[in-house]
Amino acid sequence: MPRPDRLFALTVLALLTALLVTLVAAQDMMGPHRPEYADWTRLNPQKNFIVSAHPTAKDIYINDAGRDAALERSFPYPDGSELVKESIDVETLNVTVITAMRKVAGFDPANGDWEYGMFERMDDGSFGGMWAEVGSDMHQMCVGCHTGAAATDYTFLTYTGN
Ligand code: HEC
Repeated sequence: MPRPDRLFALTVLALLTALLVTLVAAQDMMGPHRPEYADWTRLNPQKNFIVSAHPTAKDIYINDAGRDAALERSFPYPDGSELVKESIDVETLNVTVITAMRKVAGFDPANGDWEYGMFERMDDGSFGGMWAEVGSDMHQMCVGCHTGAAATDYTFLTYTGN
């Protein structure tokens, strides 16, 4: 039988180990580490886990450059603005797809100078994808829909609650 103080130390150690395991597991559930936009502003006030036609929830983040334009609806967005949309699988809570738009002066003047990017979760948890070139199939697909929001500088912002 170990001495009481050793027993105490062992109990603390066991509890700390359990906490660490829980934290690591929880982090995995939250999807990949996202340093690029971890401190950006989330535009949707409520996390939306409603299962619709596609079993995903979405969170949309904006960087500091574009924050005021989106929140105050004062368009166009300044150069350097970037929006990131996460699609989250409601069962695993993994982020499965990241779509993004960033404003790059002179990139595509006919369509608001937005670059469009799409990144999908790979088996190893990393993300693979690209920013589309002007005129590519992907670019035309993104622009095709987002032109419907041309009055708000090609962003829908339907989920912001205002
Ligand atoms: C079928 C139409 C459609 C297509 C195609 C489409 N989008 Fe969207 N997108 C939307 C709608 C509607 C919203 C707002 C609601 C939502 O988030 O689902 C949106 C929202 C976004 C947002 C958040 C900013 C905003 O507009 O409110 C980003 C970022 C985005 N889309 C990126 C992309 C990219 C990148 C592509 C191409 C790979 C793309 N979208 C293709 C319809 C579309």
